[in-house]
Amino acid sequence: MEYGQYWDAFYRKTYVQGARKALWDVPAALSVGRDLEIFKSAFLPGLPLLDIGCGTGEQARFLAAHYPKVVGADASPTAVALASAEPASGNLEFRVLDIADPEACAELHRLYGDMNLYMRGVLHQVDAAEHPQAVSNFSLLMGRSGRLYFIEVADNIRSYFAGAAHGFHELPKAVQEVFVSNLPPHGLNLEQLPRLFPAPEFQILASGESHLLTNLMLPRGEAVRIPAVYGLVGKG
Ligand SMILES: C[S@@+](CC[C@H](N)C(=O)[O-])C[C@H]1O[C@@H](n2cnc3c(N)ncnc32)[C@H](O)[C@@H]1O
Repeated sequence: MEYGQYWDAFYRKTYVQGARKALWDVPAALSVGRDLEIFKSAFLPGLPLLDIGCGTGEQARFLAAHYPKVVGADASPTAVALASAEPASGNLEFRVLDIADPEACAELHRLYGDMNLYMRGVLHQVDAAEHPQAVSNFSLLMGRSGRLYFIEVADNIRSYFAGAAHGFHELPKAVQEVFVSNLPPHGLNLEQLPRLFPAPEFQILASGESHLLTNLMLPRGEAVRIPAVYGLVGKG
């Protein structure tokens, strides 16, 4: 699957031609800042950290203040160019990477060794048939000592938006851009996690229901929050 092509079209249309932001582009303190509270005590602090599907780099820039080396990686070259154009500290770099590509992930592990992985809103956009390959790539990147934290759209997203669209006139267009410009999303649920990250290779250290904040404002001034699930995963 050519994730880079799909996502490049989205980033070019939204950020470059439209000079707009994606709906998930919110201040880092309200996204990864909340996630950090869950994973900071579980991540070995000396390991490099990989932000998978980093988009325009908001979360990676935040993480660079907390970890000695941060790599933001995205399948879209345009997203990586946008991320790289912002001022950044010396311990942060951005690169193009398809997380479903085993050779590219093996190369990254050769360069950096075991890594902690952060992933916000990416796996639900990867074809379900490629989830086992993506998980195998996570395993390779984590090695023995890395851990993975993810927060992903929950599988009730379609019914959530179908209900929400009746009340919020601004919602359908923004949501359509994500659903039409890119791959159809496959949300996760908590029951799936033990199959996705099977023992004894993996150990699910924590999981739960959460939400992903968006920058879509409801008429009463409250931001739309997408139902989500999170997981903290180590090696068995
Ligand atoms: C919904 S956006 C989330 C962006 C960012 N993580 C955030 O929360 O702001 C999904 C991101 O995943 C990237 N992506 C999709 N499939 C990918 C893949 N196979 N490998 C790497 N990145 C991918 C997209 O280009 C996009 O930037």
